[in-house]
Amino acid sequence: MLKPSVMSEITPILLLIHFLTPFLFLHANSQFHDQEQAVLIRLKQLWQNPLSLEQWTPSNSSHCTWPGVVCTDNYITQLILDNKNISGTIPPFLSDLKNLTFLNFSNNNIIGKFPVAVHNLSMLEILDLSQNHIVGTIPDDIDCLARLSYLNLYANNFSGNIPAAIGLLPELRTLRLQDNQFNGTFPPEIGKLSKLEELSMAHNGFSPSRLHSSFTQLKKLKMLWISRANLIGEIPQMIGEMVALEHLDLSSNKLTGTIPGSLFMLMNLRVLYLHKNKLSGEIPRVVEALNLTSVDLSENNLTGTIPVDLGKLDKLSGLSLFFNQLSGEIPESIGRLPALKDFKLFSNNLSR
Ligand SMILES: *[C@@H]1O[C@H](CO)[C@@H](O)[C@H](O)[C@H]1NC(C)=O
Ligand SMILES: *[C@@H]1O[C@H](CO)[C@@H](O)[C@H](O)[C@H]1NC(C)=O
Ligand SMILES: *[C@@H]1O[C@H](CO)[C@@H](O)[C@H](O)[C@H]1NC(C)=O
Ligand SMILES: *[C@@H]1O[C@H](CO)[C@@H](O)[C@H](O)[C@H]1NC(C)=O
Ligand SMILES: *[C@@H]1O[C@H](CO)[C@@H](O)[C@H](O)[C@H]1NC(C)=O
Ligand SMILES: *[C@@H]1O[C@H](CO)[C@@H](O)[C@H](O)[C@H]1NC(C)=O
Ligand SMILES: *[C@@H]1O[C@H](CO)[C@@H](O)[C@H](O)[C@H]1NC(C)=O
Ligand SMILES: *[C@@H]1O[C@H](CO)[C@@H](O)[C@H](O)[C@H]1NC(C)=O
Ligand SMILES: *[C@@H]1O[C@H](CO)[C@@H](O)[C@H](O)[C@H]1NC(C)=O
Repeated sequence: MLKPSVMSEITPILLLIHFLTPFLFLHANSQFHDQEQAVLIRLKQLWQNPLSLEQWTPSNSSHCTWPGVVCTDNYITQLILDNKNISGTIPPFLSDLKNLTFLNFSNNNIIGKFPVAVHNLSMLEILDLSQNHIVGTIPDDIDCLARLSYLNLYANNFSGNIPAAIGLLPELRTLRLQDNQFNGTFPPEIGKLSKLEELSMAHNGFSPSRLHSSFTQLKKLKMLWISRANLIGEIPQMIGEMVALEHLDLSSNKLTGTIPGSLFMLMNLRVLYLHKNKLSGEIPRVVEALNLTSVDLSENNLTGTIPVDLGKLDKLSGLSLFFNQLSGEIPESIGRLPALKDFKLFSNNLSR
């Protein structure tokens, strides 16, 4: 405790500080505010003043009211610049907007490499760079974005490997990498993304790769889409452990071996596309995946008869089994399916 005499000397100073603090704070804050506005103006100039950013003009109205800009406590936290006809690069100085959590640049004409600025945006949770013309690789230290929950790089020209560091983004829920030019490998570490709900890597030119069994640890994954991506080897038997799966599309690859029986036990599965592979053996006999609405196993090398159990799938509207080596009769149970609209069986060895 301070002695009263000392206290009385200090009190006026404390009071002074107490009264000045709001002004100091406001001043610092407004300076910061001006700096952030200057970043927006520089961006607009760099992109050669697109018409869509016409209203980004200094005035007495805060830039927090400008189109595409969202602030929290006067700090810019979101830039929502999708479909803004922006041409050019994402410059390093974007990282001066330190409070950014949400960036959407989808569907512009952005060129260059994965923006370095993003490295310094440590608060970033959502990054959407989809539908642009970005080239090069995903940086090996992508895990510096520790809070990232959504990463969408769909429809660009990214190439190379998908780095192992992507498995070190513990908050990631959505990962969309489809329609790029990835020509290297994808890492088993993706299986560590315990919150992942959507994984799309379709339409890439990976070097021939197996579907890592680690992926079966993705217990929250609802959507797994890796069609036309050069997959080889077998579908992991443990795929039935992915209990949240609703949509599985591994079509147009070079998968071999049999269809794991556990797939037809997944209660949440609605869509199952395994067509255009080299799968062989029988279609699993026991079917408990009663939510299935669409099954496509066509253009494989499947043998044996059509399982009677498929007739349990009351929600099934599409069933394609053409171009296989199926034999025997068509089960009557399938003829009674109430929702079936699209049933393709041609080019098999069926009797009658
Ligand atoms: C401030 O903005 C208002 C309307 O947005 C306008 O009427 C006024 O002239 C502006 N004042 C200055 C000093 O720019
Ligand atoms: C923005 O960042 C500053 C310093 O980096 C921090 O003090 C402030 O709390 C942040 N504000 C928001 C709304 O995130
Ligand atoms: C970004 O914008 C695109 C195009 O408008 C939209 O489809 C997408 O959902 C947006 N991304 C996020 C994370 O909101
Ligand atoms: C988009 O920007 C280009 C210039 O970069 C311009 O020529 C074109 O008219 C713009 N399109 C629209 C719809 O604003
Ligand atoms: C990113 O941050 C590092 C250190 O934190 C700094 O050296 C570097 O200049 C920053 N880069 C950009 C593009 O701001
Ligand atoms: C990717 O590159 C190819 C060939 O260079 C080009 O034809 C294609 O339009 C590019 N795609 C995108 C999304 O930039
Ligand atoms: C992958 O594509 C990039 C860009 O087109 C190219 O530079 C690189 O040599 C390719 N790598 C392999 C292994 O084919
Ligand atoms: C079908 O899926 C829903 C959730 O989408 C779930 O609540 C329901 O139990 C499933 N039905 C069956 C028969 O498993
Ligand atoms: C299909 O399987 C049969 C035997 O089960 C085999 O002889 C044949 O080569 C296979 N065809 C293809 C295209 O894999």
